[in-house]
Amino acid sequence: MSIQPIDEQYTFDSGLIVSSTDLKGIITYANRKFCEIAGYTKDELIGKNHNIVRHPDMPKAAFCDLWDHMQAGKEWTGIIKNLRKDGKYYWVYSHVSPIIENGNVVGYSAARRPAFQTEVEEIIPQYKEMKAKE
Ligand SMILES: Cc1cc2nc3c(=O)[nH]c(=O)nc-3n(C[C@H](O)[C@H](O)[C@H](O)COP(=O)(O)O)c2cc1C
Repeated sequence: MSIQPIDEQYTFDSGLIVSSTDLKGIITYANRKFCEIAGYTKDELIGKNHNIVRHPDMPKAAFCDLWDHMQAGKEWTGIIKNLRKDGKYYWVYSHVSPIIENGNVVGYSAARRPAFQTEVEEIIPQYKEMKAKE
């Protein structure tokens, strides 16, 4: 089922969106805030790839960079435009890191806060340029 994006922003001004995935990016945990902001129930999110909230305006290179960091066992931070179930978009500042158990990477976790307007304004032209090169 693909979601038709609509040009309407969903804003939220507080709270932390938390999720975890396995090594393939399949969601294994979603907090209540993630469900609320993305517009899905927990059951709809668990077991799905994290790209369930991928917005078509996001350049692929942004996620290549994220995965390069994960594969190297490093943390990644970035601004992401995500797609809600109702088609609206929301911007987050995201911190993604590997989950390490007994020295092995067993999954990844992400914590996100609402992105500041200044962060969004700065990244939009960069993403547009990256997208144009795809
Ligand atoms: C912990 C974690 C959190 C992620 N969060 C997002 C997210 O919020 N939005 C998103 O589009 N992709 C997110 N991704 C990346 C997706 O899994 C996927 O790589 C990306 O959306 C590109 O999708 P595609 O490969 O289908 O083009 C996350 C990945 C991980 C490991």
